[in-house]
Amino acid sequence: MTRQARKLEHLWHTVRSELTNANFDDISLVHNCLPETGLTAVNLSASLAGINLLRPLFINAITGGIDDAENINRELALAAKECGLALAVGSQMAALENPLFAKTFRVVREVYPEGIIFANIGAYADLKMAKHAVDMVKADALQIHLNVPQELMMAEGDTDFRGYRNKIEKIIASVGVPVIIKEVGFGIAKEQAAIFKDMGAAAIDVGGKGGTNFMLIEKRRAHSKANQDLLDWGLPTSISLLETMAGAPGIDIVASGGINSGLLAAKALALGANTVGIAGLAAKLLLSEGRGALVARLQEIINELKMIMVMTGAGNIDQMRHVPLVVSGYTREWLEQRNIVLSEVLTSR
Ligand SMILES: Cc1cc2nc3c(=O)[nH]c(=O)nc-3n(C[C@H](O)[C@H](O)[C@H](O)COP(=O)(O)O)c2cc1C
Repeated sequence: MTRQARKLEHLWHTVRSELTNANFDDISLVHNCLPETGLTAVNLSASLAGINLLRPLFINAITGGIDDAENINRELALAAKECGLALAVGSQMAALENPLFAKTFRVVREVYPEGIIFANIGAYADLKMAKHAVDMVKADALQIHLNVPQELMMAEGDTDFRGYRNKIEKIIASVGVPVIIKEVGFGIAKEQAAIFKDMGAAAIDVGGKGGTNFMLIEKRRAHSKANQDLLDWGLPTSISLLETMAGAPGIDIVASGGINSGLLAAKALALGANTVGIAGLAAKLLLSEGRGALVARLQEIINELKMIMVMTGAGNIDQMRHVPLVVSGYTREWLEQRNIVLSEVLTSR
C-alpha cells in the first residue's frame, strides 16, 4: 500500500473511531472558593521551547502528503488562526521524497503567515531532511515523532529502529530551530525522557495513550483479528506526563493523547505541562462537521479552561501549573512502583 493511501485511511479511521480515555480520572484539582482573578482577567499566554504561545493549546500533527491534505491543512490552519493557536503539520516525509506534495504543507504558512507552526518528521529522517522540512513551512520548531508500536502493527511498517538516537542527536545539534520529541499515542517513560533531555531536546510531547489509538486504527485497516491484546499498549497520557517530568525535570512538556476538554487540559497543565496538543478530536470535527464546528469546540475548550483557572484561583498559566491537586488510585500505585516521588516531581514544575 502506498503512503498516500495509508494516510487517507488513517484520517477516515480517525473519524470513525472512538477516542479512548487518557487516565485523568485519578487527578483531582482542588476548588478555591476565594480566587483573586476573574474570567476576563485570566491570562492564557504560555511558552514552549522558548516560543511564546497565545494559548496553552495547539492543533497537533495530523496530515499532509496526500492530495486531499492541501485542503485539510488549509482548514486546520484557518481554524488555528481564528482561535490564536499554534499548529503542527503532519509528517512531511512524503514531501521530502516527492516535492509535488510540498504544497500540501506550505499552505499552512500561506494562510497563517503570522502563526506558530511546527514542522514534523519521522525519527528515521536525517539532518538534511530535517532542515528541508523546517524550510518548507518556515517552521518555528521541529517535531520528531516516534511511533514504534504503530510501525510494528502495520503490515507495511518499519521493523528495525536502530540508529534513531544518533540521527535525533545530530538534528537537535544542527537543525537551527528548537526540537520537540513526540510520541503518537504510546507515551514516553522516564528513562527515555532523560535521554532526550541529555540530547538537548527543547521539549517533549508525551503523546500518551488516550484519544487516538493507532493500534486499533492499524488493526482495523488490516481487517485483522490478530494482536487483540496489544490494543491497550502504552503509557496513559497522565502517567506519561509524570514519567517525563521525573526523567527530564524542568524540560518543557506538551501533554497530548486524548485531551478533549477544558478539564483535561487544566489537569494536564496542573500536573506540569506547558501546553496541550489536540489531534484526533480536531480531525474528527473538521472532517465530519467542518471548520465552524472545530472552531466552536476549540473555543469551548478554551472557555472551560478559563473557568477552571478561576475556580482554582489561577490568574495565569504559570499559576495554573502550580495549583494544588490530588493523585489517587492506579496512577498513585504506578508512581510508587516506578519509584517516582510525586512531591519531587511536582516541585520540578
Ligand atoms: C489522522 C492522524 C494522523 C496523524 N499523523 C501524524 C503525523 O504525521 N505525525 C505525528 O507526529 N503525529 C501524527 N498523529 C498523532 C497526533 O499528532 C497525536 O500525537 C496523537 O494522535 C495523540 O493525540 P490525540 O489523542 O489528540 O489524537 C496523527 C494523528 C491522527 C489522528
